[in-house]
Amino acid sequence: MSDQVKRIGVLTSGGDAPGMNAAVRAVVRTAVGHGIECIGIRRGWSGLISNDFVRLNSSSVSHIINKGGTILYTARSEEFMDRKGREKAIGTCKLLGLDGIVAIGGDGTFRGALALSRQIAEGGQNLSVVGIPATIDNDISCSHYTIGFDTACNTAIECIDKLRDTMQSHERCSVVEVMGRHAGYLALYVGIAVGATAVLIPERELDFENDVVENIRRARLAGSTHYMVVTAEGAASAYEIAKRIKEEIGIDPRVTVLGHIQRGGSPSARDRETASRMGYEAVQVLMTGKGNRIVATRDGRIVDLDMEEALAMTKAFEMDRYDVLEALTNNDSFGYKR
Ligand code: F6P
Repeated sequence: MSDQVKRIGVLTSGGDAPGMNAAVRAVVRTAVGHGIECIGIRRGWSGLISNDFVRLNSSSVSHIINKGGTILYTARSEEFMDRKGREKAIGTCKLLGLDGIVAIGGDGTFRGALALSRQIAEGGQNLSVVGIPATIDNDISCSHYTIGFDTACNTAIECIDKLRDTMQSHERCSVVEVMGRHAGYLALYVGIAVGATAVLIPERELDFENDVVENIRRARLAGSTHYMVVTAEGAASAYEIAKRIKEEIGIDPRVTVLGHIQRGGSPSARDRETASRMGYEAVQVLMTGKGNRIVATRDGRIVDLDMEEALAMTKAFEMDRYDVLEALTNNDSFGYKR
């Protein structure tokens, strides 16, 4: 263990995710338990540029494990994507005397972390950056799971179950748009969990006739009189899909865009537990002096990976889940759709 780590910063950046607070709490409590001072950087990378901080101790993070959002606030920083912005951020780290930073967030946060770590290395400064994956999109390649995904899925499922009640009563078609500009994990997991008639994801090119019309048709032939189409925002807009359904098969769908409701709410057991373990691990990693790392889950275990290597990884989308959806939802006595 290194006794070089005396003071660390922790920040949340990018889109918030339920469980971020639990991660902040775990970082602070683990650090304090080892005699390390903890500084909360507010408003993500922007706060590191503008020297916006709050000193944290164990009681500052009491009663936040159950809270959605982030007590540290969050932001997406254009300025940090620029070298000059990062230079200012490095200045803040020097001024505050930080030996390490824990950055909690998604893809954009990690791109920032990588750029920062490279710039720090060029300057020969002794400061490590450790990333914790937290995004409702679950789209960080090096980690099988990201904090917030489970809660967001549960929120969307709860909303869709409610929609189903009224769609069933009125024998209607519902088109629901869930978040995910570039990633369809939320749409697909939710689609499976609600037994959606069709799910549209950005990873799969839309074939309207096959993916939407044919699935509704088969559901009708199997006896259904209501239909649930789930689209990820990056695949197609729910309004556009509803319009095409009306034009092509004459039914008049109702549209619901779930939007930011999916990013809020009290984190689920899975998100609290994962966030707590990841936050704990991030501080352990800083204390071992391993350098710039990403904390990740691999097959249920918490691991830490070299930041450069981790962020160069790619993961194949779980297309087999699409087969599960089709097999369970759109088969009928006439057989499985081909
Ligand atoms: O954080 C991820 C995410 O929720 C995406 O699913 C979504 O496309 C995006 O953020 C929305 O970002 P904003 O809150 O800036 O509109």
